[in-house]
Amino acid sequence: MLIQSRRRLLLLSCGFTFLVVLPWLYLSENTYPWSIQDSYDFTQPSSQDDTTRLPETKFTPSPSIPKLQLDENENRWNMHQLGELYACISGNTTCHPNKRKIILMASGDTKFGLWLGWRRGESIWGEAMFKEFYELGYTVLVTEGWAEAPFIYSLYGPLIQLVIGERPGKCIYNPKCIKSTENPDGIPIWKIFDMNYFPKLDWFGTPTDGTPLGGPWIITAVDNGPDYPYQYIGYSIEESCKALSVRPASQREHRVYILMKQLAYAHFASAWDPDYYARAAAELGVLFVAGYGDNPKFKPGGQERPKGGWKDIEEPGKVQNLGQLDRERFLDELGKSKLLLGVGNPDWSPSPYDALCLGVPFLNPVRYFDHADPWNQSKWETQHPEITRLGPGPPYVYTVHARNYTGFVEAIKQALATPIERYIAPHMTLDAFKRRLVQWAETDWKSKAEELDPDWRNHAVELHRQKGATLNIDFQF
Ligand SMILES: *[C@@H]1O[C@H](CO)[C@@H](O)[C@H](O)[C@H]1NC(C)=O
Ligand SMILES: *[C@@H]1O[C@H](CO)[C@@H](O)[C@H](O)[C@H]1NC(C)=O
Ligand SMILES: *[C@@H]1O[C@H](CO)[C@@H](O)[C@H](O)[C@H]1NC(C)=O
Repeated sequence: MLIQSRRRLLLLSCGFTFLVVLPWLYLSENTYPWSIQDSYDFTQPSSQDDTTRLPETKFTPSPSIPKLQLDENENRWNMHQLGELYACISGNTTCHPNKRKIILMASGDTKFGLWLGWRRGESIWGEAMFKEFYELGYTVLVTEGWAEAPFIYSLYGPLIQLVIGERPGKCIYNPKCIKSTENPDGIPIWKIFDMNYFPKLDWFGTPTDGTPLGGPWIITAVDNGPDYPYQYIGYSIEESCKALSVRPASQREHRVYILMKQLAYAHFASAWDPDYYARAAAELGVLFVAGYGDNPKFKPGGQERPKGGWKDIEEPGKVQNLGQLDRERFLDELGKSKLLLGVGNPDWSPSPYDALCLGVPFLNPVRYFDHADPWNQSKWETQHPEITRLGPGPPYVYTVHARNYTGFVEAIKQALATPIERYIAPHMTLDAFKRRLVQWAETDWKSKAEELDPDWRNHAVELHRQKGATLNIDFQF
């Protein structure tokens, strides 16, 4: 608690200095106008691009953005960033025009990723947004969650463009956090964005954790296409990919790498019968390898282990188990292989993109389909739906129906015979990611929220009523 109040004091003192200086700056000659739209010119706009002002490809980093160097914790970081923002506003330093715009990440996943080394997908995603917003010149502040966000907002509100975090209902339905008739200095609901990695149509969590605005106010890490109304932000694999080298086909082993960190995946809801590997190994003279463990606590889809545990597939001539590998070794072993074979789970895994980056094709199983209409893609559920929707196709990605042994062997045979170059999906490039971030940060979300069907308010009230609660917040934009 002591630390908490000291932290607040620090923020307060910085905040007050800032508040005192701010009016002076407003009143003095204003070399840097504040408006949200004014300062987006870090590169030349493309000539054909008339619908948006986004540049086509080049994002030359401004020389005034120092190399990203994290301070020891998020409070130091915030102080440091606010100090730079202050110097920028006072006109004493030349700074990137985006510096005067704040992105507030009220995200524990991001904080714990940056400062405690969390490696879950949500943390990696949060870090990616943090880093690229920073590289784009924005002032990025981080809090652990929604507790401190309204305080920071009350100090810097006019400069804050986006407030991003998990379970934003914790602010939206908190009368002390959200802007309303009673709390005019709170965070306006239209600035709040829900970090939600997977675009599930039925929101994961309690309904009152989410934002009632829905649609683009829910941002996702994966792209599930236009049927899903969310805002795809994603991330980029370009930098991590280019740090790796592609092994020439002549230096690969004649083998298939099975994507499977747990033995359970070979059995539970698997796309292939476990005997496919031995059959195909004999038929094609190829080796199957995988790096998996067999954790008794691991229950895919809540499925209990059978008595005696999952049957191994590791016998000689079937699959060689390399054991559980850290990321570096995984990439090394994957890069020595000629195909990455999906078995149905885990879905949406980023590993197929790693494989393509290493010049290793991927076999994407169609886990579920209509047996009477097997080629109708609208009824497919593949292991990696994003790849099914956005490509690429063969010889990069082979799509095979679950339990079709003929298709399984044919695709493996073709992959072994058809080496590919490194492939980075267009939506996974750094440029594409930055364009999405800029589009997001520079959109007039207030107008968009004003255009919404006002029924979202009744819907929020109804969600609370179903929980036996009463919602009495008069949201103000
Ligand atoms: C700008 O900052 C430098 C040090 O960072 C200081 O020496 C100088 O006096 C400042 N100039 C103005 C106009 O504030
Ligand atoms: C595929 O399935 C969808 C959904 O059932 C249906 O609307 C569509 O007409 C089908 N397409 C073809 C080519 O049969
Ligand atoms: C199984 O794979 C073979 C070979 O690719 C293909 O000809 C056949 O149509 C597939 N059957 C189904 C039901 O997908």
